[in-house]
Amino acid sequence: MINKKSDSSVKSKKASAKTGDSKTGKKKGGLFQVPRGMHDILPIDWLWWDRVEKVIDDLAERYNFGRIETPILENSGLFQTTIGKETDIVRKEMYTLKTKGSDLLALRPEGTAPIARAYIENRLSSLSQPQKLFYYGPMFRHERPQRGRFRQFYQAGFEIIGGNSDSVYDAQVILIFDRLLRALKIKEVELSINSVGCRICRPNYKRQLQIYYKRHEKDLCADCSRRLKDNPLRILDCKKESCQSLKEKAPSLLDKICAGCTRHFKAVLECLDELEVPYRLDNYLVRGLDYYSKTVFEFFSEGVDVGALPAGGRYDYLIEAIGGRPTPAVGGAVGIERLVEVMRESGIRFPGRLKKEIFFIHVGELAKKKSLKVIEELRSAGIAVAEALGKESVKSQLRVADKKNVTLALIFGQREVYEKSIIIRDLKLGLQESVTLDKMTSEVKKRLKIK
Ligand code: HAM
Repeated sequence: MINKKSDSSVKSKKASAKTGDSKTGKKKGGLFQVPRGMHDILPIDWLWWDRVEKVIDDLAERYNFGRIETPILENSGLFQTTIGKETDIVRKEMYTLKTKGSDLLALRPEGTAPIARAYIENRLSSLSQPQKLFYYGPMFRHERPQRGRFRQFYQAGFEIIGGNSDSVYDAQVILIFDRLLRALKIKEVELSINSVGCRICRPNYKRQLQIYYKRHEKDLCADCSRRLKDNPLRILDCKKESCQSLKEKAPSLLDKICAGCTRHFKAVLECLDELEVPYRLDNYLVRGLDYYSKTVFEFFSEGVDVGALPAGGRYDYLIEAIGGRPTPAVGGAVGIERLVEVMRESGIRFPGRLKKEIFFIHVGELAKKKSLKVIEELRSAGIAVAEALGKESVKSQLRVADKKNVTLALIFGQREVYEKSIIIRDLKLGLQESVTLDKMTSEVKKRLKIK
């Protein structure tokens, strides 16, 4: 991997020098550890992750978005052309690599540019328009890890590409994220919204910003001094205190955008009012990617500070920038780790449903051997079976069963082997019954209400 040297990589080396070797990825004790800024998702975490994925799938289905999956690697030029050469993502955060054939590829830092590429390459414009697409997968940015910020993180995104630039589509994208947060019971969120204008009115706004910030150049941070020339809008997004306080008197976008953009923006707000999606106008909201035009938005949790939750906007020039026909588009994406963190921290629990699963208990060596085939029969009939065949005592098997939220246990001992029967025990009621093996599967299905 080639990574342009950045402040963060220098710091990360210093930090890991204390705890281990950054080259081998080993800790002091000689054990390998997960790469910095990345994390494992353990079975216990899937309680949350599954819920999020399921809600996203359900919403996509109900709101008529079709799933799209693009490769994790793309030509790095795709991101330079779309996200912008001067953005932090492209300048400092992309993981790029040279292949044996000398192609320069990048681990995707986001999903919109790859989907725009796929839209053109697969001629999705020849299908009914607009195309409503959603995706879910890992993204990579070599950022400084902190709360809610990872180097590998999962994003779910919704994009509406093609058709016309109707404000109703902007509202539909925002609505689906509002519904996602509601379905996950994430409350106390604020939606900030703004319009960053179009290619006709934005250059004029940029110039006014440059004039304003030029007067205060000495108070800008080093990054913003550089941004002043090529990307003054990004100064509005700088989190450093000196730059933040200058923002208060900077010219505001909403006063400067053209009549067409104002009309478009007003119509978006009217749709949101109609849908009863509350929002806050933020005249200075801009985004860290250069491809946006007109609407931009970000949702934040008011209680848990992990950074933006869903965020996005309109990108009417992106497809054209990579060789497609002019194609209006709007979309957004949300980091799954951030959603999970907010749910955990806010104590959001989903009622643990009783699983349609049984626990198989064997008693003795012979029964253990014969269990293998009996369990296979159940599983091939579509029944989920948990067991602890490696444990001998019934007590220790019951301890494992106890931790699982199962209603039924099957008990199989030497007597049952000879009698070709099995005991079905209802763990909630404490009642049990012996059935012959040939009736076992149908009995279990009946009790679990599996068809
Ligand atoms: P973005 O603002 O860079 O936009 O990322 C969207 C969301 O991804 C963020 O609001 C956050 O929830 C999550 N996210 C971003 N970086 C990280 C990170 N390092 N760790 C954890 N979560 C993170 C985009 O990526 C655009 N492609 C969104 C879009 C779609 N615009 C139009 N369509």
